[in-house]
Amino acid sequence: MKKKALVLLASLLTTIAQAQPHDWENPAVLGINKLPYHATLQLPSKWKECKEIVSLDGQWFFHWSRKPEERPADFYREDYDVSTWGKIAVPGNWQTQGYGTPIYTNIEYPFLRNRPSVTSEPPKDWTAYENRNPVGSYVTFFNVTKDMLSKNLILHFGGVHSAMYLWVNGQRVGYSQNSMSPAEFDVTGYLRQGENKLAVEVYRWCDGSYLEDQDMWRLSGIFREVQLWVRPPVHIADYHVTAVPNRDFTQANVTADITVCNTSRQKNRNLKVILKIDDKSIEGRLNSLVAGDSTHIQLTYQIDHPKIWSAEKPNLYPFSIELYDAKGSVVEHFDYHLGVKRVECVGEVFKINGKNVKLRGVNRHDHHPVTGRYVDDDTYEQDIRLMKQANINFLRTSHYPDREYLYELCDRWGLYVMDEANQESHGYGYANEEMGHDEAWRDAHVDRAESLVKRDFNHPCIILWSLGNEGGVGPNIQAMYDKVCELDSTRLPFYDCHPRYSALHDHGYPSPEDLRREAEKETEKPLIAREYAHAMGNSMGNLQEYWDVIYADSSIAGAAVWDWVDQGLLKKDGNKVYYAYGGDFGDKPNLDAFCINGLLAPDRTPHPHYYEVQHVYQPLQFEMKGDSISIINRDYFTDISEYDISCDTIVIDGEHLLNVSAHLKADKPWAQKGFVVASEQFVLSPYAFPKAVAPTANVSAKGITIKGNAITSWIVDGQEMLRAPLEPYFWKPENDNQHAAGFASRVAMWKDVVDVKVKYTIIDDHSILVDLNYQPTAGDRPVIPKLGMRMRLPADMTHIEYYGRGPWENYPDRKRSAFLGHYKMPLSEYETEYIHPQDNGCRTDVRWFCIANGEKTLRIDGLQPLCIRAWDYGEEDLEGVRHPCDILRGRFINLNIDLNVHGVGGIDTWGRRTLPQYTIDGNKPYHYAFILSWQ
Ligand code: GAL
Ligand code: MG
Repeated sequence: MKKKALVLLASLLTTIAQAQPHDWENPAVLGINKLPYHATLQLPSKWKECKEIVSLDGQWFFHWSRKPEERPADFYREDYDVSTWGKIAVPGNWQTQGYGTPIYTNIEYPFLRNRPSVTSEPPKDWTAYENRNPVGSYVTFFNVTKDMLSKNLILHFGGVHSAMYLWVNGQRVGYSQNSMSPAEFDVTGYLRQGENKLAVEVYRWCDGSYLEDQDMWRLSGIFREVQLWVRPPVHIADYHVTAVPNRDFTQANVTADITVCNTSRQKNRNLKVILKIDDKSIEGRLNSLVAGDSTHIQLTYQIDHPKIWSAEKPNLYPFSIELYDAKGSVVEHFDYHLGVKRVECVGEVFKINGKNVKLRGVNRHDHHPVTGRYVDDDTYEQDIRLMKQANINFLRTSHYPDREYLYELCDRWGLYVMDEANQESHGYGYANEEMGHDEAWRDAHVDRAESLVKRDFNHPCIILWSLGNEGGVGPNIQAMYDKVCELDSTRLPFYDCHPRYSALHDHGYPSPEDLRREAEKETEKPLIAREYAHAMGNSMGNLQEYWDVIYADSSIAGAAVWDWVDQGLLKKDGNKVYYAYGGDFGDKPNLDAFCINGLLAPDRTPHPHYYEVQHVYQPLQFEMKGDSISIINRDYFTDISEYDISCDTIVIDGEHLLNVSAHLKADKPWAQKGFVVASEQFVLSPYAFPKAVAPTANVSAKGITIKGNAITSWIVDGQEMLRAPLEPYFWKPENDNQHAAGFASRVAMWKDVVDVKVKYTIIDDHSILVDLNYQPTAGDRPVIPKLGMRMRLPADMTHIEYYGRGPWENYPDRKRSAFLGHYKMPLSEYETEYIHPQDNGCRTDVRWFCIANGEKTLRIDGLQPLCIRAWDYGEEDLEGVRHPCDILRGRFINLNIDLNVHGVGGIDTWGRRTLPQYTIDGNKPYHYAFILSWQ
């Protein structure tokens, strides 16, 4: 009888255990024993010298399991031996260190969508089928001194993807999710003198992953810093500082709201908190603080005639906050800085410091080609330096908070920041109601808003708090909005999915014309394009067209390019080395090369279109009127006199050019004195293109074979110089934008040339005039990919010299940054190696072009400007190839000599086409000519 009851009880217990969901599949459990979120207490650049911080970063013991059932469940125990385990770098992702599979997916969740479960059975060919929520078990050991034991000890995890359990010396401490924000635990009672064992169990996915459906590599692990904070028992738990200017900016009111807590067992008396700023000390007294309690102290200070902070002039006021004990000794000291600024919407005008500042923006994912989601300080500096050099003044931390140091750099070097909450439930649809309304997910949403604002509150660079990206709409988002407004009234809230939750109205990926119309239509709020100009592959056409619209309408706050850096992961397959994208790891589902959308390659090498952004975003614009040049200053806090302006006249082959540029007068943290911030080129007297030459009498055509429209053979000094005929050729491979817009099939007829007549006039046996006529004989022709000719030359002709636009690649709709000049470069520089191979390498407005092998030179003289592309591979070698290392090269040089090329496009990579003014209408006649001569 007794036995039966026991069995019954046991089975009842198992049922209860089964019914009890895992913390990591339960949206009601966001953390266990987690300390409240708080502001970054110490400037990140001073962490290393901060005596309260002990870094636990380094090589940790690591074990990876495919699924939770296979994990070493008792690894946290003190008697569990991990000495045979592998090691892993912390911070870091486990997939970039040889464990498990990186997955690149956009909207589709990488696991079966069935919330809150992340372990339901997905299709058999998905990565998550076999690897049903991998678990990383981490162990490290560290020493604690006797002195430390008298302190308050806090473990700080900067970011862990996606959920973690923590044990110290075999005892469970707590649990956390919300992977892009810090998790902190009070471990005072768990530590002992001598060696301590720290065990962390990380789950690849958790219910929180339903809110982390960003378009990016899905990587896991302890990917940000781990620190042990050794704090006095009575300490500063948090402080928020605001610096609010009065209406006319003649004064600023600084308020420091400081939370002091007492973690000791005794009441503490006669404490003092001091705010030190401007050589002044503002003191606050705390008569007594009982054990376990915390309290707020507000200190205020007024700055007269403050120096205002802006991205242009990032004026900072350093300050420190100190805590004194009853004996009058400093027990804590933190350094930070504040900036005085005002952000507001006045009707439909967005203003910073009272001015209609335009946000010249970019979106950035926290991505590194080797370390994945962990981006080191040097790369942060490189990114912010390159942004400043490109005249970018606005950064959106899409789509989650980055590491703290990034914000410090933006404070110091000057960038306006939209700091974004880690909230995207795109897998349920843009502006979905499922996640936005489900009450069970309310706290999970709010947690992400709270962690964002609380951590980054003290950074002057932040102007907007974004509630997330492509998430839900409904009460859950309203609750996020309310939380942000409750926590901070000095910055504005933003949300893309509905203007109800946003100070600004968002319109993503408009055409320039859409943007103009939308701004006219929307009269309630300023308009922003939080994402525009999808920089995927060879892209970023028509950028100036956007800015003509933005500058012309004061209700448009600005726009941010999607996005900063190609998210490729460095991969070695035998001898092949390349930047991997979706599918390269066998990951499924995946979205292929859709993560390669940057202005920079993964290693931060600028793409040609980076320079176009730099040019279009320049704060000064130059206009020539008659014989004078006027300068339009697009900045508000910088005077033109703060630059050295230079004008250089250059003469190239009879063409007179004027190059105007504005240089920095002094060194900046991001560039040296002399750096060119803005420039423009004017043609003073144009190039005299050669005229058609009448053949002289008795010209010999020795060595030249002409068949129909083609030259099929050209023997120069006894050598055949053609590897393929010179002939009319209207085809060009697609770029990513064109591919997405169905270009190849739309214009497929141009794989064969029709209605073309080429006339060859032999000048002598080393030179010939080529004259092409296109005369359409039928209507309704699609646009022509490129209008011109092609030939193939010996593979060793790799030296290039030309007079045209450069030095970098340029196309008809993306050539403003590329000035006319006499350039010389090897073929390898003339080509552009896109991470996903595609059409590339064009130079427009070419007057003449030489290609040589050191012995022989082929010179091309246009009778009008030419577009020229040269490659060491053919069109057929580019199409369908995944990586640059897969291109078959070196058999010949492929040379396209054109009157015009279809523009790259610049709106999106999901269907929008190149603007009509940058296409070649197939229904119009064309004529062009050039002279070829061997020298
Ligand atoms: C946007 C989205 C980004 C990215 C982009 C396409 O709509 O917010 O995260 O997916 O499209 O590259
Ligand atoms: Mg998305």
